[in-house]
Amino acid sequence: MTRALLPTAVVLVAALGAFPGATPVAAQQAVEPAIDSLLAEMTLEEKLGQLAQYRGRWGDTGPRVEEGGEVQIRASAVGSFLGVYGADYTRELQRVAVEESRLGIPLLFAHDVIHGFRTIFPMPLALAASFDPEGAERASRIAAVEATAHGLHWTFAPMVDLSRDPRWGRIVEGFGEDPYLGSVMAAAHVRGFQGDDLASPQTMLATAKHFVAYGGAEGGRDYNTVDISERTLWETYLPPFRAAVEAGVGAIMPAFNEIAGVPMHAHAHLIRDVLRGEWGFDGVVVSDYTGVMELIPHGVAADSAAAGVLALRAGVDIDMVSGIYVNDVPAAVRDGRLDETAVDEAVRHVLRAKQRLGLFDDPYRYNSVRPEDVTLTDESRAFARDLARRSFVLLKNDGGVLPLSKSVGTVAVIGPLADARRTMLGGWAAAGRAEDAVTPLEGVRAAVSADTRVLHAQGAEFEGEDESGFEAAVVAARQADVAVLFLGEHEEMSSEANNRTSLDLPGTQENLLRAVHETGTPVVVVLFNGRPLALPWLDENVPAILEAWFPGVEGGNAVADILFGDHGPAGKLPVSFPRNVGQVPIHYNHKNTGRPPAEGEKYTSKYIDVPWTPLYPFGHGLAYTEFEYSGLRLDAERIGPADTLGVEVTVTNAGRRASDEVVQLYVRDDVASVTRPVKELKGFERVRLEPGKSRTVSFHLPAESLAYYGLDMERVLEPGRFTVFVGASSEDVLEIGFELTE
Ligand code: GLC
Repeated sequence: MTRALLPTAVVLVAALGAFPGATPVAAQQAVEPAIDSLLAEMTLEEKLGQLAQYRGRWGDTGPRVEEGGEVQIRASAVGSFLGVYGADYTRELQRVAVEESRLGIPLLFAHDVIHGFRTIFPMPLALAASFDPEGAERASRIAAVEATAHGLHWTFAPMVDLSRDPRWGRIVEGFGEDPYLGSVMAAAHVRGFQGDDLASPQTMLATAKHFVAYGGAEGGRDYNTVDISERTLWETYLPPFRAAVEAGVGAIMPAFNEIAGVPMHAHAHLIRDVLRGEWGFDGVVVSDYTGVMELIPHGVAADSAAAGVLALRAGVDIDMVSGIYVNDVPAAVRDGRLDETAVDEAVRHVLRAKQRLGLFDDPYRYNSVRPEDVTLTDESRAFARDLARRSFVLLKNDGGVLPLSKSVGTVAVIGPLADARRTMLGGWAAAGRAEDAVTPLEGVRAAVSADTRVLHAQGAEFEGEDESGFEAAVVAARQADVAVLFLGEHEEMSSEANNRTSLDLPGTQENLLRAVHETGTPVVVVLFNGRPLALPWLDENVPAILEAWFPGVEGGNAVADILFGDHGPAGKLPVSFPRNVGQVPIHYNHKNTGRPPAEGEKYTSKYIDVPWTPLYPFGHGLAYTEFEYSGLRLDAERIGPADTLGVEVTVTNAGRRASDEVVQLYVRDDVASVTRPVKELKGFERVRLEPGKSRTVSFHLPAESLAYYGLDMERVLEPGRFTVFVGASSEDVLEIGFELTE
């Protein structure tokens, strides 16, 4: 079959080849004319085909395109697929695109590679708890190497939506409640996935999602209305997206929600004016799943064509799975409802992404590595185990119950998560397999001495009232020197569309815990969960509580490493844990109000039934040693707007074990033109200290980092008094003041 215009794609390659060592600008200019010449050859249908993305389905030997997918490829009616991967299979589909379609434009293959491809790492909320951006970057790097070896070019990650509402199931997919931590983690993930050369066959396009304020859903109900102030939008929810764009993220995915009446998939101001205009984002905007079609139920589009026109006008380049761009937009362009330049602009973004990935140079470059050589390697597993350990947060450890001795006589392993395999991977587990995962029971058995007896009883269910398993658990606990209860949520109780109105331990788990506690056998609780839980009874009655989130493929081993002391915990909470759901929304960077809560003063902002404070605050996390902070000092009492303030503190390991500690720096703008948070995280450093040793931890605080959105919503840097806080959590801090001068 002769392809009249294949030379066009070759021309694009030639144009690129002409600038092998050119500066990026020259190369970029070379690409644009080449893309423009390809555009000029394309029919309207072929252009809209580039903007269509369809999902895969699970075939008998792996992910496959839907029936008729290859016909769509040959007809240039599709530009990318999601959920289709496999080195050989994607090579064949690419061959069909390049050799059997009129223009030979390569396809993009995308997937939700969120926290690993086959080596599954801790879920993003857990990675945030590690306060280890280098670790998060390396995990994303490994994920990209595995995913690209299976033919994938593009991941729909990182999810950078902040949340202050644990009822929302997707809080587990993001980095918690803080804009600074969220921004640092967003950039780390983008660097990991994209590396420093997108055209390398082992790097992939990253996507910052869901743009924007998705975590602000009313009632914590996924997809629900978001109605926030402009100030909250800019001070809280936008910064992690800005950080991802500054890190060079190649794609952005709009959120399902509206903001104050404007659905994000039709939000021309935030997409065109802010994202592209102010921030200079020149990558691809890909809709969320049926996000374009959903403009109809949102009530801003009367039909599919209107939805397609709205979305393209707003700057949504790719229509994920609703098929509207291909089916309904041609007529809208031809009858003048939509100017074809909007289509051309979207196609240019897609072709530019394909060019940046090197697909015009070599469409098969992502089918060159032997997948088995780089997938689920021992090294990746070992790193997954280390990262999981670093993500755990020791919430409580009264009397030093932890670490346990490996030569304990009998340990009872109890709870619905004690031998849970699939749940260790959490949600969005890509190509992860339950059989790859190590359960806590297996981890404990591998860790203890040969003489230790390990008893196991599941005890409870996640749902319902059944307590028939309690007796076996109580019997096991009675025979044991210590009972370790593995409690929490399964993976379908958080992530997308999995919202809860309760933050209690699901099912009969707390009753199981009480029954075991009554035996008098010392109890330790390990939590696996996708959101902050409300744990007042545990906090009152359980001496040791370890938060393990969803720890990934090596979860069971990592938990055992910490329980039996081979390693010490040092993670910190990236999100506040409330006392009960009635406190939600709750977050550390709140405003002071005109009547800040004051004990004993009735008419101040608090509750009559529970303390107003969280059970465990943002930044909280203990270790198997004690850290002492002293000597907080500044290198100046006042600084000017162009200066940087030096902050130092002495941290001492006053205990008997070496440990990491995440030293945190917060700032408060004491008086400003608008109300400001009582604290804002501005820096952190995870340091390691040998027992008895002290070290100075230094931070550099640029004056420009004190800027905020003033009365007129312009960035301002106002002179005045500021307070610096440094410590082990957002509440456990030393403080000192300084002045910012004109
Ligand atoms: C889902 C999610 C989004 C994901 C996309 C593709 O609905 O909202 O995070 O990337 O669809 O699976």
